[in-house]
Amino acid sequence: MKVTVVGAGAVGATCADNIARKQICDELVIVDIKEGFAEGKAMDIMQTAQIEGFDTKITGSTNDYSKTAGSHVAVITSGIPRKPGMTREELIGINAGIVKTVTQNLLKYSPDIIIIVVSNPMDTMTYLALQQSGLPKNRIIGMGGILDSSRFRYFLSKAMNCSPNDLQATVIGGHGDTTMIPLTRLATYCGIPVSEFASEETLKKVAADTMVGGATLTGLLGTSAWIAPGASAASLVEAIVRDEKKLVPCCVQLNGEYGQKDICIGVPVIVGKNGWESIVEFKLNEEEKATFAKSADAVRNMNNILTTLEI
Ligand code: 2OP
Repeated sequence: MKVTVVGAGAVGATCADNIARKQICDELVIVDIKEGFAEGKAMDIMQTAQIEGFDTKITGSTNDYSKTAGSHVAVITSGIPRKPGMTREELIGINAGIVKTVTQNLLKYSPDIIIIVVSNPMDTMTYLALQQSGLPKNRIIGMGGILDSSRFRYFLSKAMNCSPNDLQATVIGGHGDTTMIPLTRLATYCGIPVSEFASEETLKKVAADTMVGGATLTGLLGTSAWIAPGASAASLVEAIVRDEKKLVPCCVQLNGEYGQKDICIGVPVIVGKNGWESIVEFKLNEEEKATFAKSADAVRNMNNILTTLEI
C-alpha cells in the first residue's frame, strides 16, 4: 500500500508521522511545493523509525508528483491555515487554486486514488476536488467530522469528568464555526444518554465549545491546530487501508440523503477499502433536521463562491 500526503506543513507532517507510527502502509510520500521541505520532514520522521519501531519507507518530493505514482490514498493538507480571528471560509480564495492543482497532479499518476481533503474551507474544497477529479463520489472524502467529534468528546469528558474513550458522540454538518452540529441528544456515556450525567446548560456549553474548538486553538497557537487534525486524517487513511468499515462522520457528496443534493457535507459514513462505502442515516428530530438544512445552505453558499473565482 502506498500513501501520499500533500503539504509538509504542520498538519501534513503530523499526519505522516501518525501513519508511520501506526505502520499503516509500506510506502509514504510527502510532497510540498517548498524546495527541500518535504524531503526534510520525511527524513526527520524516518529518523524516528528505530525509536518507534516502524518499517514504513518515507520519502519527500519537491512538487514532483511522479514520485506519488500508484498511490492508493492521498491526503491533501496544502494551502494556507487560518490566523487568529479568521474563519475557515476566508481561506477559499487562495486554497481553491491550490486544491485544484494538487488534485489534478495526483490524478495524473494515480488515476484510481482515494483523496482525503483536509484543506479549508474543507466542505467546499471537498466539493471542488470531487468536481475537478471526475472520480466516483466514494473516492473523495473530506476530513472534518472525525476531528470535530473527537473535540466534542474531549469537552464532554472534561464536563463529565470521565474518559473520552467511554463516550460516543458525533458531530455532523459543515466543518465551520457556525455550521457544525454536535448531536448532543444522541451522545452517550457507555450507552447511557449524557443528559443523565450533565445539565442542559453544561451540555449547551460543551456544544458551543466544540463548534469553536478550532478557533480557540487558533487563538492560543497563533495558527490553525495540527496535532488532532493530523491524527484524524491518519485515522481515516487507516480505516481505508485496513478496510475497517469504520462508522465516522465525514464530508461526502449527498444525493438525497439527509434531504440534500449536490453538496459535500459531514454525515455518518462507513469507511473501508473503497473510500466511503455508504451513508448511515441517523434519525434526526425536527430541530436537528432544521439545523442540518441551515448548515447545508451555508455550505452551498460557500460552494457558489467557487464560480466567481478565477482558479
Ligand atoms: C481545525 O479545525 C484544521 O480545520 C482544522 O483545526
